[in-house]
Amino acid sequence: MPLLEDLEQRLGGLDGRRILVRCDFNFPLRDGPDGTPEIADDLRIRAALPTLRWLIERGAAVTACSHLGRPGGAPDERFSLAPVAERLLELAPSIALAENLRFRLGETANDPAFVDALVGGAVTAPFGAGSPAPFDGYVNDAFGVSHRAHASIVGPPQYLPSAAGRLLHREAEVLGGLRTDAKRPFVAVLGGAKVSDKLGAVEALLSVVDTLVIGGGMCFTFLAAMGHPIGDSLCEPDFIETCERLLVGGANIVLPNDITALDAGGTVRQMGRSLPDGCRGLDIGPGSAAEFDDVIAGARTVFWNGPMGLFEDDRFAAGTRAVAQSMADSRAFTVVGGGDSAAAVAQFGLAPYMDHISTGGGAGLELIEHGDLPGLAALRDSPQR
Ligand code: 3PG
Repeated sequence: MPLLEDLEQRLGGLDGRRILVRCDFNFPLRDGPDGTPEIADDLRIRAALPTLRWLIERGAAVTACSHLGRPGGAPDERFSLAPVAERLLELAPSIALAENLRFRLGETANDPAFVDALVGGAVTAPFGAGSPAPFDGYVNDAFGVSHRAHASIVGPPQYLPSAAGRLLHREAEVLGGLRTDAKRPFVAVLGGAKVSDKLGAVEALLSVVDTLVIGGGMCFTFLAAMGHPIGDSLCEPDFIETCERLLVGGANIVLPNDITALDAGGTVRQMGRSLPDGCRGLDIGPGSAAEFDDVIAGARTVFWNGPMGLFEDDRFAAGTRAVAQSMADSRAFTVVGGGDSAAAVAQFGLAPYMDHISTGGGAGLELIEHGDLPGLAALRDSPQR
């Protein structure tokens, strides 16, 4: 994969060169004190800085671009990158930032006309010092969206000398390396609400990990597949059969033995695996947290994606906190993927103890699942001019 140094060499230096950098500045906004949107967490901006600053230090004129949310192909103030621009320009003042790429239908449709406009500089930079002129080079530093074959991800490398940014390169190495080079025992911990979102990853992980630990909302479809009544817990009936099949083939799946649940009267209760009607499982129980800790403690590589419960609510945060703590205590190489797990680790003050916190959730899972992403392939296939 071409790196920044390769791009510098191919362009014969970067001084005065116009470089388009695809970043992933997609993160939740919240209402600020005066009601205007502000960014809740600038992790993805800080993660892009090494690339942006490297380019600026070499004299490049840098325009960053990103999507934010899913505005559906038309301008929508709620999804403006203005709050991002404010923070970005504090951290890297000479950057220009284009408005949300998904304000145009051509972005998600990968429309060649939109790619032309993008590389030709006609998608102008409304924030910062940009001017509409063609770009000389392209950098993809947007790992979190590199699983999408969108115009700004796969288009520019067909026309411009291109390279992977520092973030993309590191993420691809770490997440891609899990599939091929993880030290054993390799344990993956999956959580989050929906089993349907992660079935591909479950199947792929089962063939590469030694143990797959499953918690979060998604565990209830597995427990239902084992024949347990799960009360009013999250369940995806259409996927019960698939879970049954995975359980038969997957002797290395560990599911919670106890559950923290909310009963019909609104009382929090510790339950076993079977929940009566009206009872909703919202976290793994303390016994499961201890069992998961044993599994994590014995690992040399741990990958975690998805919370164990509704950790935003203190009553159901213990399981997620326990997994984060087990990872922090472990001597294994620890990788956290997915916005919710990363937010949980930050909320518990444990981020400094992880080896790698990925900026990509879906992208990381797809890289583990398929061994490649459209954004990575586009850079590799980019003509070497
Ligand atoms: C993410 O946050 O997962 C990426 O930015 C991708 O966003 P998307 O799922 O809207 O394509």
